[in-house]
Amino acid sequence: MLEKMDEFFNNRVYLYEEHQLNAIECAKEFYPFTAECLPLKPDAFVLDLGCGTGLELDYYFRLNPTARITGIDVAEDMLDVLKKRFSDKAITVIKGSYFDVSFGNSRYDAAVSAESLHHFTKEEKVPLYKKVRQALSPGGFFILTDYFAESEETELRLREELRRIKTKEGIRDGGLYHFDTPLTAEHEIQALEEAGFSCVSVLKRWGATCTVKAVK
Ligand SMILES: C[S@@+](CC[C@H](N)C(=O)[O-])C[C@H]1O[C@@H](n2cnc3c(N)ncnc32)[C@H](O)[C@@H]1O
Repeated sequence: MLEKMDEFFNNRVYLYEEHQLNAIECAKEFYPFTAECLPLKPDAFVLDLGCGTGLELDYYFRLNPTARITGIDVAEDMLDVLKKRFSDKAITVIKGSYFDVSFGNSRYDAAVSAESLHHFTKEEKVPLYKKVRQALSPGGFFILTDYFAESEETELRLREELRRIKTKEGIRDGGLYHFDTPLTAEHEIQALEEAGFSCVSVLKRWGATCTVKAVK
C-alpha cells in the first residue's frame, strides 16, 4: 500500500536519523559536504526544501551558527524534532508542500534540498525550480543532494511502477505519496537548466548520490 508522504515520515521519525546516516551509502560524507557548499557569511539566508529533522542543517549550523533558515516540510513530526533541536537558532519552519508554498522574490542567498526531491517527475520539478530560482538573490545558488537513477530505463520503470500501483489502489487524488521515482542526473540537470539556472554542475558523487550546484 502506498503511504501518504507526511504519514510515511511521521510514522518513522524515531528511526529516521539512524536509518538515514547508517543505511544510506556515504551519508556521513554527503551531509557534511552539502553543508560545506552553503554560504559561510554571517546571517546567510537559506531556504531548505524538505528539511525533515534537519540533518544537513545540523552540519551547516556548525559551520555557520548565525545562518537564518526557512525550512519547508510536509511531515509535522519531523518538523517537531527539528524545532526542538534548533530552538536556539534563527529558523522559520513552514509545514506544507514546497509545490504549494510561496518562496518570495530575491530573498535567499542559497537554497538546499537533501534526499527529498527523488519523489517527483521532471514535469513537476521545472516549475518548482523556477520558483526556487526566483526566490534567490542575484548570484544566489541551489545545492541539491539526492540520489539518482542509474539509467533512463530505471527512471521510466519506477515511474511506470508508481502509475501501476496508483491505478491498482484507485488513487486519483494527485496527493503526495511516498514512492521513489529518481530522475537520472542528466534529466535533473536538464530540469534545472529549463528552469533558467546556469552553471549547473555535479560537484561530487558517492555511488548513486550526487551533489548538484545550480546558479541563478
Ligand atoms: C528522506 S527525508 C530528508 C529530510 C532531510 N532533508 C534529510 O536529508 O535528512 C525527505 C523529506 O522530504 C519531505 N517532503 C517530501 N515531499 C515534500 C514536499 N512536496 N514538500 C515538502 N516536504 C516534502 C518529507 O516529509 C521528508 O521529511
